[in-house]
Amino acid sequence: MKQWINVALPKGRLGENVYKIFDEAGYSCPSILETNRKLIFENEENKIRYFWVKPSDVAIYVERGAADIGVAGKDILLEYEPDVFELADLNMGKCRMCVAGHKGFRDNTARTLRVATKFQNIAKRYYAEKSRQIDIIKLNGSIELAPILKMSDVIVDIVETGTTLRENNLEVLEEILPISARLVSNKVSYKFKNNEIMNICDRINEICSVKDDK
Ligand code: PRP
Repeated sequence: MKQWINVALPKGRLGENVYKIFDEAGYSCPSILETNRKLIFENEENKIRYFWVKPSDVAIYVERGAADIGVAGKDILLEYEPDVFELADLNMGKCRMCVAGHKGFRDNTARTLRVATKFQNIAKRYYAEKSRQIDIIKLNGSIELAPILKMSDVIVDIVETGTTLRENNLEVLEEILPISARLVSNKVSYKFKNNEIMNICDRINEICSVKDDK
């Protein structure tokens, strides 16, 4: 008998596009398209249940088993290192993790570099590899303000279109790594619902690799 699969989707534009992929893969759930404040949607026939969560929380739901699978950004996976399996690269939600700062910024290595970021572990690892001493300033949003107000020298943040940096007279100084959305699975679910999860993963891989060729 087919088992229910619980899927944590990231709220927002990325999640809506991810749902379209699941839909195309044969896991539709039309009620999800209704505009209301509901958080959980299920399709009895497909035995699939979706819920919308904050993008940065997807990996927590999957790690704890509240969701069997989910879609999370590689940035979140690298920052929090949740105990989940990464099954596929969806080639969506693409952006770059970068060091950014004022145009023409030169690092004065005689001083500790002040780095503002939401991604303190990624930043710490990056600078540790370069043996550069830093002072992390952990922020939760609007990171670009920090160098503008001279609270930090640089930021480590996501750059997607580059508009936020451009409109604030900042620029990319170094690229740390490319980021994209990943399909992740709870480790226990992967074992006990392996057929269902692998079917979803295979279909999604097919669809996403075709899309990537376009
Ligand atoms: C993210 C990121 C940048 C911006 C980059 O912020 O932290 O600020 O998007 O996108 P862009 O290159 O297309 O301009 P988000 O919108 O998540 O808001 P936040 O300031 O609350 O982090």
